[in-house]
Amino acid sequence: MRRPFIAGNWKMNLDRAAVVELAKALAEKAASFADVEIAVFPPSVYIDAVREAAAGTPLGYGAQNFYHEANGAFTGEISAAMLLDLGCDYVILGHSERRHILGETDADVNKKVHAALAAGLVPIVCVGELLSEREAGQTNEVIRAQFDGSLAGLSAEQMTGVVIAYEPVWAIGTGRVATPEQAEEVHRELRKLLTDRYNGHVAESVRIQYGGSVKASNAAELLAKENVDGALVGGASLKADEFLGIVAAAHR
Ligand code: PGA
Repeated sequence: MRRPFIAGNWKMNLDRAAVVELAKALAEKAASFADVEIAVFPPSVYIDAVREAAAGTPLGYGAQNFYHEANGAFTGEISAAMLLDLGCDYVILGHSERRHILGETDADVNKKVHAALAAGLVPIVCVGELLSEREAGQTNEVIRAQFDGSLAGLSAEQMTGVVIAYEPVWAIGTGRVATPEQAEEVHRELRKLLTDRYNGHVAESVRIQYGGSVKASNAAELLAKENVDGALVGGASLKADEFLGIVAAAHR
């Protein structure tokens, strides 16, 4: 059984006071949903504030990105060791905003995936097609290329430590959610890729989250799909009640 995993990507939002308030509200409730893995991804400068709020509770947390080098002259970047130092368990990699706004390539993401696993961080690796690619019938092709490029060179054992997030770019922050059938179709394709490139055990173990305009009101139907193992939530993760509503939808 794959444990459902609900992650909140706070992106470049909130201030310190709002982070503390939100993290406390979630930390308080996290223990009531013991069968659901719950983590939040604040802006890096506020990770320490989340650490304090989450202390002694099952609320997990991580970073939205990091740089693959161990240390040195990389102005503006932070390392995996620094994230571990702050108690992070996870890092989001290859989010579509990093790919499409900040120019990250599959090769960049791949270096980060290897560095994250070497450090003991769980990477959430995002893949997803643009609207134009979907309309041109290229969705599976795009997903396969991102999968192969971002996850190149991982052993089967390493792969079981990765979480994949399918995030169709046209559904991110647009209010336009993929239908449960559209999500399931791509998740099934990703599961098949895991079988083809690795093996059946890996395919059964790896969790695949859906992301893109997930809200409390649409989470249950998405999470009901066989291959949807959780959600990566942006906008709706900024409000405690809304995010907890999504967590509740994953709770069996
Ligand atoms: P959204 O963002 O929920 O605001 O659409 C999802 C994401 O970018 O992870």
